[in-house]
Amino acid sequence: MLRIPALDLPPLQGADGTVHLPGSKSISNRVLLLAGLAAGETVVHGLLDSDDTQVMLAALAALGCGVRRVEQAGRETLTHITGLGGRLRVSQASLFLGNAGTAMRPLAATLAVLASTQGGRFELSGVPRMHERPIGDLVDALRPLGCQIEELGTPGYPPLRLTGRPGGQLNTGEPIRVRGDVSSQFLTALLLALPLATGERDIVIEVQGELISKPYIEITLNLLARFGIEVRREGWQRFTLPCSHGASPYRSPGRVDVEGDASSASYFVALGAIAAHGGAPVRIEGVGLDSIQGDIRFVDAAKAMGAQVRSGPNWLEVRRGRWPLAGITLDCNHIPDAAMTLAVMALYADSPTRLTGIASWRVKETDRIAAMAAELQKLGAHVEAGDDFIEVSPPTTWRTAALHTYDDHRMAMCLSLAAFNPLVATAAPPSLPIRILDPQCVAKTFPDYFESLLDLAQARPEDVPVITIDGPTASGKGTLAAEVAAALGWHLLDSGALYRAAGLAAVADGVLPDDEGGVAAIAQTLDLRFGQGLEAGRTWLRGREITHDLRQESTGLLASRVSALPAVRAALRGLQQAFRRAPGLVADGRDMGTALFPQAALKVFLTASAAERAERRHKQLISKGIAANIDSLRADLEARDARDKGRSASPLRPAEDALLLDNSHLSIEASVQQVLGWWQQRSPFALATAGDK
Ligand code: DC
Repeated sequence: MLRIPALDLPPLQGADGTVHLPGSKSISNRVLLLAGLAAGETVVHGLLDSDDTQVMLAALAALGCGVRRVEQAGRETLTHITGLGGRLRVSQASLFLGNAGTAMRPLAATLAVLASTQGGRFELSGVPRMHERPIGDLVDALRPLGCQIEELGTPGYPPLRLTGRPGGQLNTGEPIRVRGDVSSQFLTALLLALPLATGERDIVIEVQGELISKPYIEITLNLLARFGIEVRREGWQRFTLPCSHGASPYRSPGRVDVEGDASSASYFVALGAIAAHGGAPVRIEGVGLDSIQGDIRFVDAAKAMGAQVRSGPNWLEVRRGRWPLAGITLDCNHIPDAAMTLAVMALYADSPTRLTGIASWRVKETDRIAAMAAELQKLGAHVEAGDDFIEVSPPTTWRTAALHTYDDHRMAMCLSLAAFNPLVATAAPPSLPIRILDPQCVAKTFPDYFESLLDLAQARPEDVPVITIDGPTASGKGTLAAEVAAALGWHLLDSGALYRAAGLAAVADGVLPDDEGGVAAIAQTLDLRFGQGLEAGRTWLRGREITHDLRQESTGLLASRVSALPAVRAALRGLQQAFRRAPGLVADGRDMGTALFPQAALKVFLTASAAERAERRHKQLISKGIAANIDSLRADLEARDARDKGRSASPLRPAEDALLLDNSHLSIEASVQQVLGWWQQRSPFALATAGDK
């Protein structure tokens, strides 16, 4: 997951391959609450692991539910919830719910009902934006029942305090009225919470005004049914919760499987429609057309714009059909979240796209109508927007832009699709990089979104920026390169590791380190794997872990010998250049700037005195429990420098256009800042961000 202030996407040319969707947010948080209210244990498979589910899990734990995450080696993590059986275990709690509407609304209703009947005092708060998202209609629906609810800030908005005394009665004889035309989450909250109050009589909920986002209510009803509660529905106006005769009405099904998130699928459906033009489709695993999530209907809209879609159980395959895409006019009331993706697909259409019925966009994570209009205009689109519609005409001239994401995951995911601008079929195709500001806001629902997107996307190597960091052994290149890569969200090539691994493979095969042809043949087919994600920092050779062996001094000496052989260097060229993948590459070694990436956008040559380097290497080895002598280390370093500099194949020397950085007296942090500062001056967004601040 990225933790960086900005992610620059190079111009992208196409896409294919498979994405595994994270679990649905809407299903995940409803299932967690239902499991938390039911008696006994529910095991949840495929739960979304994101900011919004984290706050729900933390809230359930604070309320006394059992919450256990069980990691299974090599397979998905399971979530075990032991519920309250409808009985409060704590009488007070302050719950922080971030910006998760799917936690705030249902927990407010649930705790209001529980506190009113069993006694208690609960406070619910969130981030500042959460305190601007309305909840007054839910409060107005709950107060006539007898719930005591205080609005601690602005009336009609969180934070809220919910209180009551043990033995309190709820007035459930009258139908409960709730507005349905601002957010369907108010009705969902009542449907999830009121079974707690059914007792000896049915409870009726009446919706005032036209209910929006009906498919989300269908998800709620479907999941209530899985927990034993069959709601009777008359149209979309009247819902009856059956009496439970005093028993706790929620019955755990034992196991629940969470579908992939259909709203998250929309970005990959759009990706296929825009960029899967080379033959292979974009395959999406986790939802199929039979999904219970309303946003799956986004597929119909995408087809109307030109997507070709196939589907099977739990999968979709999408490729480009019509191109350019066709502009459409659509009432999006049934797909409020996924509809945002249509606004970005509109950039690739040959006529305007008008989306109506989207008033709810204004009360989501941000005012999405205003946000979308502002950012699409920066790219050159002509946008008209009103209270409940947006109309996007594709750019006649594309412009590069640093795009704001408004702490809104969907803005970030949508806007990333603008990086496919080279595919626009105009006489002079644009080829513009795009900057996504605050990209980590995707953690709300899809923490690995950018990694997943870029796994499928293709860029021309020359469009992918490279920073090279060359220098002598123990100069701190590895640490510097890793930190610069992390700060930019880029890939990392530790080229020394390839020579080290080639040396180890040669020894394992009984090939002598100076047998040029023998070692080169081994290097040519090196079966090497670098760990990603949780396995980052670990390395496997031919399926065997070599993380420890790779860093031994003896392996460094072996690498220094095999790397002097021209045929070995040639054999490892392709493997090294394959690391140049979007969004960018930081490559460290000896000849990254001179031989491997001579066109690199920034070349750094790192040096430090031999004495300083010997001392650092000494500290490093001692900290790993490896015995070492500082004088012999220094002698080894100097010998290795001499060999690396003196060899005829790619001798160690700075590239002519390299910037020299002597870090003998610099901290790692200061060196990283220096390199990032140099990069910032060369980045295509240097001016854009300066102007944005
Ligand atoms: O950076 P390192 O200590 O892991 O490198 C091990 C050896 O590999 C070093 O002695 C020089 C050689 N090497 C090279 O010749 N070219 C590179 N790009 C990287 C390393």
